[in-house]
Parts: sequence; structure tokens; C-alpha cells
Amino acid sequence: MTIKKILILNGSSRKKGTSFSFSRTIKTLCEDTGNSAEIIHVIDYFKGKEELHQLKELMLQSDIIAMVAPLYSDTLSYYDIWFLERLVSEYSHELRGKDFFAIGQCGFPDITRNEPLLNTCRFFAEEVGMRWLGGLSYGGGAMINGAFLEDLGKKGEKIILGFKFALEDVLQGHQISSKSQELITVEIPKILQWPLVAFLNYHTRKKARENGNIDYKRRAYLE
Ligand SMILES: Cc1cc2nc3c(=O)[nH]c(=O)nc-3n(C[C@H](O)[C@H](O)[C@H](O)COP(=O)(O)O)c2cc1C
Repeated sequence: MTIKKILILNGSSRKKGTSFSFSRTIKTLCEDTGNSAEIIHVIDYFKGKEELHQLKELMLQSDIIAMVAPLYSDTLSYYDIWFLERLVSEYSHELRGKDFFAIGQCGFPDITRNEPLLNTCRFFAEEVGMRWLGGLSYGGGAMINGAFLEDLGKKGEKIILGFKFALEDVLQGHQISSKSQELITVEIPKILQWPLVAFLNYHTRKKARENGNIDYKRRAYLE
């Protein structure tokens, strides 16, 4: 089997958050199979800490690119969109024909919230002429909050297994099968859904207030 290299784009501004934890597991699983992987942080390129032009070699050396990103305000964050747009305008030639997949993760348990994020990634792949191998959606990333998956007991084991199956698919150039999504989907009993969402809303507002956003209900776009 040919050895492949995966370039993992950590799409979070938090370098030790849940997107990084997922990226780290993907990297380990990839290396366990004798392939290689490298993680880069999109935020470093957006903030100018790393130079975009230095990515050229990395792009050329990689067979597969993966975006692992959090959901911010119902879609991919601004700096991730900026990064993908830069790749389209500067690296279309280098990326054409390579494989691309994405993992979106959001704070709330409802995995359908990640659809705009995953659709944006699919659109990017199509735009640049890459092969879209599919997207995985995780709901409840805020509760993981950057913890390593191997420290999360049964829940972590299931996510690791889901990622393992997804990697087996992408390393063979296949679309990610539904088995992976089933394994990483957290089933929350109906009775617990409302209290959980209430808690998450409370927590988000508390965090917003702590960060100086007192008027979080203000809808600037309606003014
Ligand atoms: C500014 C901001 C906006 C967010 N918007 C959403 C959202 O629209 N829907 C959602 O389910 N979670 C939302 N979240 C929660 C994050 O997606 C979630 O906490 C995620 O696990 C963070 O990933 P990270 O640790 O890799 O940064 C938001 C978080 C922040 C900080």
C-alpha cells in the first residue's frame, strides 16, 4: 500500500480546543497505520504568524487535506473562510486532484447545525477541483472542551473508532461511510434534551458576559 500524507487544518482559534483534540486523534490514527500526518493552525496564517507562501511545499507533499473546525454562529468561522479563499486563489494548481474531507463540531448536540460548515467545505473542494470524500458532524464539542478522546471513557472510544473507520475509507480514496457518523453521533434521551440546551445557553451567555458582551440579545443586523 502506498504511504499517504494527510494535512490537517485545525480550524479553531483555540489551539488546545476540541478541534485540536479531534485533529490530534486523526494524526495518531494515521501514524498508527504507517502513514503520516501534520497539523497546522489556520489562525496562525490569518494572524500573520505563519506565511501562506510557505504552504506550497506542504500542499504538494500532501495527498489528503482535512479541515477540522468548530461551528461559530452557524457556520465556518471567518478566518477559516478567509483561509479557504486564499487556497482557492493561490494554490488551486497544487491542490487539484487531491482528496479533501472535513469534520465539523458544534457546541449543541444537534448535528444538523454543522451542515452549512460542511457544505462550505464541500463547495471549496469542488471549486478547487479536489475530490470531496465527505464530512463528519459532531454535536456536543463544547462538553469535550479540548479533552483528549482517550480520557473520555466509552464516549471517547466510540469517537476514536468512528474516526478510525473514516480514515480507513479516506486512505483508500473512498467516500467516508455512514458507519463513522453513526459511531460519533451522541444519542441524547428526549427528556434530557431541553435541560441540556438550557444549560448550554446559560453557559454561553455567562461566557459572553464575562467577555464584556453584556447586550448579547442585540441584533445589530436589524438596526
Ligand atoms: C463565538 C462562538 C460562536 C459559536 N456558535 C455556535 C453555534 O452557532 N452553534 C453551536 O452549536 N455551537 C456554537 N459555538 C460552540 C462551539 O462550536 C463549540 O464550543 C466548539 O466545541 C468549540 O470548538 P474548539 O474547542 O475547537 O474551539 C460557538 C462558540 C463560540 C465561541
